[in-house]
Amino acid sequence: MRTLDTAICTLEPQTVAHAREMFAVLSDPAIYEFENEPPVSEQWLSERFARLERRTSTDGQQLWLNWVVRLPSGELTGYVQATVLRSGAALVAYELGSRFWRKGIGRSAVSALLDELQSRYGVHLFAAVLKSANFRSLALLHSLGFRPASPAQAIEFGADPDETTMVKPAACTDNAA
Ligand SMILES: CC(C)(COP(=O)(O)OP(=O)(O)OC[C@H]1O[C@@H](n2cnc3c(N)ncnc32)[C@H](O)[C@@H]1OP(=O)(O)O)[C@@H](O)C(=O)NCCC(=O)NCCS
Repeated sequence: MRTLDTAICTLEPQTVAHAREMFAVLSDPAIYEFENEPPVSEQWLSERFARLERRTSTDGQQLWLNWVVRLPSGELTGYVQATVLRSGAALVAYELGSRFWRKGIGRSAVSALLDELQSRYGVHLFAAVLKSANFRSLALLHSLGFRPASPAQAIEFGADPDETTMVKPAACTDNAA
């Protein structure tokens, strides 16, 4: 994994060393209005980050790629995440502290994530599974060109009945024609 620079933030490969600072960021209850829950302790988060730092699932079938998102001021704002499947599809997710919302950080960070997944990891389809009520996440995905998945794709990516699956094919880079 490598560090990714965008116009407004830097994505650093997430490590255990980020756990202390990220515990404060991820303890913001507003993040969990629709899904997930805050880390129970800094120790718990350190152990989770240690597992994620292996970058692969135990069976070696999935790549786990996590970057923390840092502003030029030095502040950490949250993370972006991808699970790369053997099929060449990647499930993406992201969480930012609420004081950083609506400043273009999510769009910039997820866009850099998608570019990296395509160019460096050969991903050909991006997917996101989110609670259907999560209007902020849905709006971000729409702004990035994601569209509703087919029923078959929703099953493939394991969506529950109260969840929506959004997909975006990676851009075609073949200019040979
Ligand atoms: C989803 C999330 C990452 C969006 O991050 P963000 O930095 O606020 O998004 P951006 O400022 O880059 O917004 C990009 C676009 O998304 C849309 N958008 C984002 N938040 C929106 C909102 N509250 N209402 C309407 N549109 C919204 C807009 O089109 C926006 O572009 P614009 O500001 O030019 O209109 C953030 O709200 C978050 O962390 N939420 C909690 C965690 C979460 O739900 N994660 C997803 C789990 S699947």
